[in-house]
Amino acid sequence: MPADRAPREPRARFAHAHGVRLPLLGYGTSRRRGDACRLLVEEALRIGYRLIDTAEVYDNEAAVGRAIAASRVPRGEIVLCTKAHPQRLLAGAPTEALERSLERLRAPFVDLFLMHWPCALADLPRAMERLAAARESGLARAVGLANAPASFLSAARSRLPEIAVDQVERHLLLQQPRLVATLRRSGVILMAYRPTARGAAAAPEPVRTLARTLGQSAHQIALRWHLEQRGVVAIAGASSVEQLRENLASLDFALGAAAMASLATLDEGRRTLSRDYAPDWPEDRVPPQARGVRGRHEPSASPKE
Ligand SMILES: NC(=O)c1ccc[n+]([C@@H]2O[C@H](COP(=O)([O-])OP(=O)(O)OC[C@H]3O[C@@H](n4cnc5c(N)ncnc54)[C@H](OP(=O)(O)O)[C@@H]3O)[C@@H](O)[C@H]2O)c1
Repeated sequence: MPADRAPREPRARFAHAHGVRLPLLGYGTSRRRGDACRLLVEEALRIGYRLIDTAEVYDNEAAVGRAIAASRVPRGEIVLCTKAHPQRLLAGAPTEALERSLERLRAPFVDLFLMHWPCALADLPRAMERLAAARESGLARAVGLANAPASFLSAARSRLPEIAVDQVERHLLLQQPRLVATLRRSGVILMAYRPTARGAAAAPEPVRTLARTLGQSAHQIALRWHLEQRGVVAIAGASSVEQLRENLASLDFALGAAAMASLATLDEGRRTLSRDYAPDWPEDRVPPQARGVRGRHEPSASPKE
């Protein structure tokens, strides 16, 4: 890599849980594979992303690993997250699923290891034992869940209090105020996936109006909304270098309380990702009278926490 292609300093904005420091904005790699994935992750690291999200089922861990190895970013600066479905997590020896991921990633450890979906297969006690083993072995610095409703999270935490993260679908059209409040009380970070609902959250007129007023893109407004909330980080997908850059720049402006309050009115409880094994989401059923209540999403006192 030529000198002018050296990685940029990371943006120093983080959330904390159980010893892990999570950048507020990460790059989500689902649907990126092979060399296209490798090049995008390498570029993401070069321009300043320090949180990379992958999963065994994305079929791109090897490409992510190659990108990390090729980047000149010290491994200690990168927060690497991967996930295993319950059937993988529970198969074989206690840390086998994670060890297979580490081989593909060519990494000695990951920073976050998540159980991808709670479902009928997810024998909760055994699954939590496996996450605990991943952590105790040092192969994962921290562990967590993805797609866990509050009830599952609470049962999981009673067995494994060290759960650091719940990675769930969340965006302006699916704001999940009750889940956000529960996670905050529990000290668990909400890692928002599909943070723009693949662009649908950038479409409403109030988002476009704010974009015009602030001189940002509507996509940046939809992403920025996450970044001003305590205990929330977002992993944004991008299919091009331009999108990577544009999304990263959502760290560089502020919305403020009035804009955050107006964006709170856009909640429709609209979930865009479903699986036949997905859990029931009681938190989706937001009482109509609670919608659009100003200040429900209290902006963080300090976006650095
Ligand atoms: N744990 C889970 O079960 C789970 C489930 C889903 C996702 N995830 C994670 O969350 C990450 C993000 O989710 P996602 O990629 O589905 O959704 P997203 O981040 O809401 O949307 C990404 C898509 O939005 C478009 N986009 C990105 N930046 C843009 C910009 N600046 N301007 C205009 N359009 C832009 C691109 O669409 P085009 O491709 O059309 O250009 C991109 O593919 C995934 O990569 C994955 O890591 C986790």
